[in-house]
Amino acid sequence: MDKYCVFGNPIKQSRSPFIHQSFAKTTKQILHYETCLVELDGFTEAVNDFIAKEGKGANVTAPFKEQAMSMCDELTEHAKFSGAVNTLTFKNGKIYGDTTDGVGLVNDLLANNVCIKNSRVLLLGAGGASKGVVLPLLNQMPKSLTIANRTVSKAEAIVEQYTDQPLSACSFDKANEQEFDIIINATSAGLTGHGIPIEEKLITPSCVCYDMTYGKELTPFLQKAQELNAKNVIDGLGMLVGQAAESFDIWRGVKPAVDPVLHDLRASLNER
Ligand code: ATR
Repeated sequence: MDKYCVFGNPIKQSRSPFIHQSFAKTTKQILHYETCLVELDGFTEAVNDFIAKEGKGANVTAPFKEQAMSMCDELTEHAKFSGAVNTLTFKNGKIYGDTTDGVGLVNDLLANNVCIKNSRVLLLGAGGASKGVVLPLLNQMPKSLTIANRTVSKAEAIVEQYTDQPLSACSFDKANEQEFDIIINATSAGLTGHGIPIEEKLITPSCVCYDMTYGKELTPFLQKAQELNAKNVIDGLGMLVGQAAESFDIWRGVKPAVDPVLHDLRASLNER
């Protein structure tokens, strides 16, 4: 049976085995997918062990996405721009790397009827999560994509990677002076309990608010957006399933339906 896994630390919380086994069922593929807890200094060894056991592919999550990139023989354009890899494919003695987070985000926005084309998009944060979604967002031809970050130089460094794109970097203060159609939170501020320093006036009733994280309750950013009657308030569960669907397609050549798995995951989140 073809074997796949997800490498990470911690990894117990990962929903990837559930998602991929569900995809396998609905597409009638036969495969095994498991979690693999990796010691912080043991990533290369873990990957080589898995290849030796005839593993066909793997997902990679924190904190190994950059390290995964450096192990690859070949990288897609998306992976090169994002500086990280979340999908490894082991084939013909080579390691192929891709990143599917950004396509997962874009597909989730489109599935929620959010039109990115010609929109003014604000991306909050300039860490790994943010870097991984810039190219797929630009491919949708927004009117503008503004990256705001506490440390502005990190946002500027992302912008410098691109030429001839409607892309800019700024501080939160500068972002607060502008208007946006879509605001995407890619900071970890919500997770740490700190508020994101954007002003309420930015969240208008015509604004779509997206948070890349998810939980049983709405994230603090999305709670605020809901209070302010934002047009659409979307958490990152669809992005999670969407990135997995892209990985599954890369490995198996079949694109699984996202909705049934998303529905099951949402139900299991609510039961907790
Ligand atoms: P990830 O891989 O999840 O993106 P990361 O690379 O550590 O994680 O990036 C975290 C992001 O959240 C960064 O943009 C960080 O801002 P800085 O670059 O200025 O550190 C942002 N962030 C974390 N805590 C924050 C807070 N309290 N307020 C605003 N931004 C915050």
